[in-house]
Amino acid sequence: MRILIDGATGVLGRALAEQIIRAEPAAELILLARHKPRLEALDDLLREAGATTAPMLVPLDYTQANAGHFAELASALIPEGLDALALLAATHSGLHPLDHLKPRDFDQSLKVGLYAPYWLLHHLLRLLKADGGGRVLGVSDDVGAQAKPFWGGYGIAKSGLDTLLEQLRQEAEGSLAVRRVVPPPVASPLRGLVYPGENPKALTPAAEVVAPWADWLLGRSDG
Ligand SMILES: NC(=O)c1ccc[n+]([C@@H]2O[C@H](COP(=O)([O-])OP(=O)(O)OC[C@H]3O[C@@H](n4cnc5c(N)ncnc54)[C@H](OP(=O)(O)O)[C@@H]3O)[C@@H](O)[C@H]2O)c1
Repeated sequence: MRILIDGATGVLGRALAEQIIRAEPAAELILLARHKPRLEALDDLLREAGATTAPMLVPLDYTQANAGHFAELASALIPEGLDALALLAATHSGLHPLDHLKPRDFDQSLKVGLYAPYWLLHHLLRLLKADGGGRVLGVSDDVGAQAKPFWGGYGIAKSGLDTLLEQLRQEAEGSLAVRRVVPPPVASPLRGLVYPGENPKALTPAAEVVAPWADWLLGRSDG
């Protein structure tokens, strides 16, 4: 089983990778995130969790990435293909009215939360099984479906991601399983930026949230 996770070093991404390895220690993970040291720390965590196959670590800052980086990634994965893809990366610049939203922050939110999923799907879809066994999981947010004031580029990226996933689902016509999920509040750097005063202990543990996602990506549940 070969599964690519982007945003792999985030709170939910890490928990998802760990959950997959605990359920299937031989799973081959391709882990994307911005910072190499954080990917290496995740590699250590997965070994401790019982991983029997070294993951492929792909450090890539989406705000600096171009089409070539994604094409290169696809080439590296061609021989064995891919069973599933989980899209988790996102960035938030905090809550601002639109006239205070900096163009750079808007640009970065879209590059991470919308352009990167597009590029990944554009290059990797052909590597996913076309017999209905391939799976794409997109992690969204309530603000994707229902706009909220001040959520800026993050909200707009999620809205675009929702459309991207729905287009993909309809185009796939059952040849690919596509699932959009919205986690409940989980303590993370991203969440902390928007709700700084929150008690992290009152929120849902990441492991609990990702358990059904892991089962689904491994083909052990239908969602
Ligand atoms: N936590 C919640 O309550 C909550 C609620 C609703 C939806 N979600 C969604 O759940 C997903 C995961 O969120 P999280 O809470 O786990 O967030 P997080 O812990 O802040 O993780 C964010 C991830 O995105 C990656 N990332 C950020 N900027 C990047 C860039 N420029 N290039 C490449 N990767 C970049 C980070 O990589 P580095 O670690 O290398 O920086 C990290 O892996 C997101 O899609 C979020 O919208 C979360």
